Amino acid sequence: MSIELDMWILLKNAGETHEEKYKEEIINEEEIARKEDSGLSLEEYADSIKNNPEATVEEINELLDLSNTFYGRVLTIVEEGFFRVVYDLGDRVLKVMKFGNNELNEYEADNKLIRDFPDLIPKVLQRSSDYSWIVQEKVEELDENEWFKLFHFEDEDEFVRTLKMMIEAFKIGRPLKGFPRTMTRMALYCAKYNVRPLELREENLGYTIRDGKKHPVLFDAGIFKKV
Ligand SMILES: Nc1ncnc2c1ncn2[C@@H]1O[C@H](COP(=O)(O)OP(=O)(O)O)[C@@H](O)[C@H]1O
Ligand SMILES: [Mg+2]
Repeated sequence: MSIELDMWILLKNAGETHEEKYKEEIINEEEIARKEDSGLSLEEYADSIKNNPEATVEEINELLDLSNTFYGRVLTIVEEGFFRVVYDLGDRVLKVMKFGNNELNEYEADNKLIRDFPDLIPKVLQRSSDYSWIVQEKVEELDENEWFKLFHFEDEDEFVRTLKMMIEAFKIGRPLKGFPRTMTRMALYCAKYNVRPLELREENLGYTIRDGKKHPVLFDAGIFKKV
């Protein structure tokens, strides 16, 4: 390695450390000021917004700002998709666009199909004015027992076969009666929007918490595969 290169690396590292230290000082000052203002630590303050289903757009914008400044201490990631980062807000998630025109968030928040079947689709409860982020009900996995309790089918093939029959019946205007309500709604949803019944199999069904109870909803159903 040449002496010039050694020197360059040394200087560069020194610069970075200095910058990092400076940033850390600013962060500390911000944190102290916050604590003096509200009496809450950064984490407590963030939690008070995360756990509040009525949090305002301004509060959530502030949460995101804080998350950028205090990386990793304010929000935890549930999962990162290609287009969005999905953060954990307890019973809800915060979905932030990474790039593009926010169309996906707008679609999930305002599509007619979603408004038609609020019982089957996770609700969007809050959004920024430009759809750069949305707050959506968190969907968690439904276990096999719960699935069975909901539909009373021993296996999935039989479930899908029956669903197909119910869809056809809806299409000719003679709905089949006597099936679980969720299943009837699923069949209507498929009939109306040409969703393949296979999309509604067990792995695509999850639950959200509504009124303190588990409520079945579609997870990543056909509609979300638009892009
Ligand atoms: N409402 C939700 N509840 C729980 N997890 C979610 C929710 N929405 C998305 N996720 C998780 O985050 C991942 C990325 O979200 P997704 O909506 O697919 O974003 P992208 O448009 O970037 O693909 C999903 O695959 C899923 O695991
Ligand atoms: Mg995805």
